[in-house]
Amino acid sequence: MPFVLVEKADRIAWVTLNRPEKLNALNSEVLKELEQAFAELEHDAEVGVVVVTGAGEKAFVAGADIAELKSLDTASARVQALRGQAVFQRIESMPKPVIAAVNGFALGGGCELALACHIRIASENARFGLPEVSLGIIPGYGGTQRLPRLVGKGVALDLILSGEMTPAADALRMGLVSRVVPQADLRAAAEKLARTLLSRGPVALRSALAAVHEGLEMPQEQGLQYEAALFGLLAATQDMQEGMGAFLEKRAAQFKGL
Ligand code: COA
Repeated sequence: MPFVLVEKADRIAWVTLNRPEKLNALNSEVLKELEQAFAELEHDAEVGVVVVTGAGEKAFVAGADIAELKSLDTASARVQALRGQAVFQRIESMPKPVIAAVNGFALGGGCELALACHIRIASENARFGLPEVSLGIIPGYGGTQRLPRLVGKGVALDLILSGEMTPAADALRMGLVSRVVPQADLRAAAEKLARTLLSRGPVALRSALAAVHEGLEMPQEQGLQYEAALFGLLAATQDMQEGMGAFLEKRAAQFKGL
């Protein structure tokens, strides 16, 4: 069985981390398969939205594989961090929306994987945390950078320094996730959101992702210029004519992504 399952249905790709006996912990093979899956999905014209989730009812991903990490030395640990960062960077840079459907523990690398996704929905039993300091290390797959950007420095430092787990309800309050649903409803909720995104203009979605993702790394004045440039480019798309035409004609838009 592969460690990463990819199922496609109705323009939604479901990417399932599939190592439930180890709570879907990320070893080198899982990371490799995850990277391959996203490399293919990026260019798959049949896929408009990706949903990432974990196999089983207990864990999304319980972190990087601690058994593997223990044997690293200084040089290989740095390479390993860069490797994990590169995989998650690819996910964050996807030109189509990526939803994390967090179905249980999202710890360490699992929390960092969720942070690299564009939208996070959690089940009520999900628990988030960056417990690395309890292992004598720090988050190495982007957690020290993405968490403070998402929830602010104070809350991020609380989680990173305490290493404590946060229940889904608190994760919602602090902005770590944007929706929480009962576990039995998680898949349906992720699918409903994915369908909503699929009904939107694909070029607009791609541009919005770029404006937020790249714009946040710029000084605000430059980010505003970037936003205006993308806004201008969208005026040349068939999708804009279709979206506005459909509104004025009181019908649903049929976007072509052109
Ligand atoms: N790396 C490697 N193996 C892991 C793992 C990880 N990050 N997380 C869980 N596992 C393995 C356990 O070793 C166990 O394997 P075994 O059955 O062969 O002994 C199996 O997954 C089930 O986990 P277990 O600890 O028995 O489940 P639990 O319900 O008692 O506890 C957790 C669940 C999530 C609280 C606990 O597994 C945990 O703390 N995991 C590590 C979290 C972590 O520190 N992540 C950051 C890594 S950088």
